[in-house]
Amino acid sequence: MISLRRFVLAAVAVAGAVNAQCDKSVEIKSDGDASALSSCNTIRGDVTIGEGVTSLSFPSLQTIEGDLSIKGAVGLTSVDCPMLRQIEGDFVMQGLTVLATLSMPELTKVGSISWTTLPALGQLTFTKGVTEASSVLITDTNLGSLAGINLVTAKTFNINNNKYLSTVNVALGNVSEALSVEFNGKSLNCSFPQLVWATNITIREAGDISFPKLTSVNNSIAFIQNNFETVSFPELEKVGQSFAFNSNTKLTKVTANDLVSVGGTFQFANNTKFQTLDGFRSLKTVGGSVDLSGTFKNATLPELDDVRGGFNLQTTEEFDCAEFDKKKSGGVIKGDEYTCKGKLSEAKSSEGGASTSGGSGSGSGQKNAATGRAGISTFALIAVVAATLIL
Ligand SMILES: *[C@@H]1O[C@H](CO)[C@@H](O)[C@H](O)[C@H]1NC(C)=O
Ligand SMILES: *[C@@H]1O[C@H](CO)[C@@H](O)[C@H](O)[C@H]1NC(C)=O
Ligand SMILES: *[C@@H]1O[C@H](CO)[C@@H](O)[C@H](O)[C@H]1NC(C)=O
Ligand SMILES: *[C@@H]1O[C@H](CO)[C@@H](O)[C@H](O)[C@H]1NC(C)=O
Ligand SMILES: *[C@@H]1O[C@H](CO)[C@@H](O)[C@H](O)[C@H]1NC(C)=O
Ligand SMILES: *[C@@H]1O[C@H](CO)[C@@H](O)[C@H](O)[C@H]1NC(C)=O
Repeated sequence: MISLRRFVLAAVAVAGAVNAQCDKSVEIKSDGDASALSSCNTIRGDVTIGEGVTSLSFPSLQTIEGDLSIKGAVGLTSVDCPMLRQIEGDFVMQGLTVLATLSMPELTKVGSISWTTLPALGQLTFTKGVTEASSVLITDTNLGSLAGINLVTAKTFNINNNKYLSTVNVALGNVSEALSVEFNGKSLNCSFPQLVWATNITIREAGDISFPKLTSVNNSIAFIQNNFETVSFPELEKVGQSFAFNSNTKLTKVTANDLVSVGGTFQFANNTKFQTLDGFRSLKTVGGSVDLSGTFKNATLPELDDVRGGFNLQTTEEFDCAEFDKKKSGGVIKGDEYTCKGKLSEAKSSEGGASTSGGSGSGSGQKNAATGRAGISTFALIAVVAATLIL
């Protein structure tokens, strides 16, 4: 019969051996390698999963003090971490062709999320939900929703090219760098019910959006090629740089009656059904230029009293320019450029791009600040896709 003392010593020895395995970065090359770590509660380093792993399970792991990185494991079908609460570093997954199950029911804190090309991943099993991550990039997945990503604050939040994504509803209070939601499902309903401020916001190809508490955009905000008809920003007061609505072909109404200042360009272009601009009853200051082109029948900016740049309004419809002619002659519009013209066969934005009533409304290739950023992210995407193919 084994004595208690011998049993305790043996247990300590086993724990010691296991701890040594858990105390450093690990590379898991085969399914068997993972079982050697099955008793670790904490791994004090990075966990790198190799291409040959087909299923991954860490039954007792609670904390990874470094990164969790899974790249190119094309046979990996499931990742199961029932106790994992925290990944202190980056959680990277890339090119996991058949990964269908990602179960981390206890996970709440992650340094950052970067998930690229996970074509079989349709949902997350994140029961508690991730509430802390400094940046999130989710691109080219089959996710239908982001249920399980419950962040309240982030530096960057970039969700693009997830063609099955139909809902994004995240309780972010602020985004200190960029918030981008682009090229997902065409009817994506994108809600940020708690968002108060963000540095940049770019929303492209969404079906509906909601920003009920958005008060301030420190840099630029752009809505491009979306499919919604109306949008309102009931709390928005200030945009630090440009404010742009381009190529939203169903758009009929935008309301931001508390918006007082736009630091850069105030632009509407290629919104082929947008005829009445009357939802900006408090707009006083535009630090750049006012650039409105399209099918306007009526436009009014009743409080506008300081435009530091020029003014361009071109429309294919009959238009009464009296209000803006008066602002030009009264010195409200300081820039040299001034155009206000109706009944044009082609209405152009001040960069010269056409914005006619019959236009296709493609938003690519513009040079203006707001859409330029979106152009850059498209380029970055192509680079990511190319890199994935090469790897
Ligand atoms: C950012 O949002 C979070 C969540 O709403 C809030 O707790 C925090 O105070 C905000 N930070 C700033 C600087 O606004
Ligand atoms: C915000 O967007 C502008 C271009 O519109 C870009 O110059 C700037 O670097 C962006 N800032 C952040 C923090 O992403
Ligand atoms: C989008 O979501 C918001 C908030 O959940 C909801 O109020 C709105 O009706 C939804 N829009 C559509 C088109 O389903
Ligand atoms: C953005 O503006 C908000 C409100 O004015 C402010 O609280 C926040 O600190 C600003 N963020 C940055 C990154 O400057
Ligand atoms: C648009 O302007 C015309 C006159 O140019 C005016 O008769 C009409 O009531 C206006 N419509 C709206 C919705 O303001
Ligand atoms: C409007 O659409 C035209 C034609 O597709 C394009 O050349 C132009 O750059 C667009 N302008 C803006 C500001 O989006």
